[in-house]
Amino acid sequence: MRVMVVPDAEAVGRHAAALVADMVAGHAAAGRGTVLGVAAGATPVGLYRQLQAHVATGLDFARVAAFALDEYLGLPPEHPALFARCFQAHLPPCALTVIASRPAGDLAAYCAGYEQAIAAAGGIDLQLLGIGGNGHIGFNEPGSSLGGRTRPVALSAETRAANAGAFAPGEAVPEAAITMGTGTILEARRILLLATGAAKAAAVAAAVEGPLTAGLPASALQLHADATLLLDEAAASRLTRRAYYDAEAALPRRLDS
Ligand code: GLP
Repeated sequence: MRVMVVPDAEAVGRHAAALVADMVAGHAAAGRGTVLGVAAGATPVGLYRQLQAHVATGLDFARVAAFALDEYLGLPPEHPALFARCFQAHLPPCALTVIASRPAGDLAAYCAGYEQAIAAAGGIDLQLLGIGGNGHIGFNEPGSSLGGRTRPVALSAETRAANAGAFAPGEAVPEAAITMGTGTILEARRILLLATGAAKAAAVAAAVEGPLTAGLPASALQLHADATLLLDEAAASRLTRRAYYDAEAALPRRLDS
């Protein structure tokens, strides 16, 4: 894993947007589109806003396809906490495929169809991720199989409490969701996980420096050949090998010069 630390959340959004814009522009120059896996939640909103700015100044997003990482199950289509609404509000216009909160018919068949749609698009070039305070990625809660596929999942009490702010006071947070599995996520050609704030520092440290374990799904990124964690100082504050990560992050520039 590559660990990159920048001063604050604003810089995380800016650097992440520059990485995404570079990839999209590079693919466009080569005559091909880009397939993104997109995360909802508060953390990536700055990235999506910055991407809108890149598009406003000439980045061609027309051949980008985006696949949602996860979604609550059971919410009505107009509910403000739906992840689909986050993507519709913040992503630059693109071919967006969201996960239905109330899929018709058999759930397992729906999830298999979602995986087939990703494969038919050519697989995910870049998967964007946040991280839960308990180390979840998507809605792969601690204990989820590291090889798991897109499927319905139960949400842990801690995740439901952490996400309660997106719901009206007293309103129940859904007990279930559909998420790409950790195995699905690991098939992306590149992964970019964003984390900001001290509340993520323990999960980030465990993901980077702890053992590879289903007990902390983000630790699965240790298996991926091209995974980057882009952190602000607060989210990086519990890492113990910071000098090494900084040297690694600086290496490409040093080899160039
Ligand atoms: C949520 C979502 C994840 C998200 C994470 C962090 O529960 N299932 O996709 O990355 O938790 O959310 P936030 O960025 O709001 O802290």
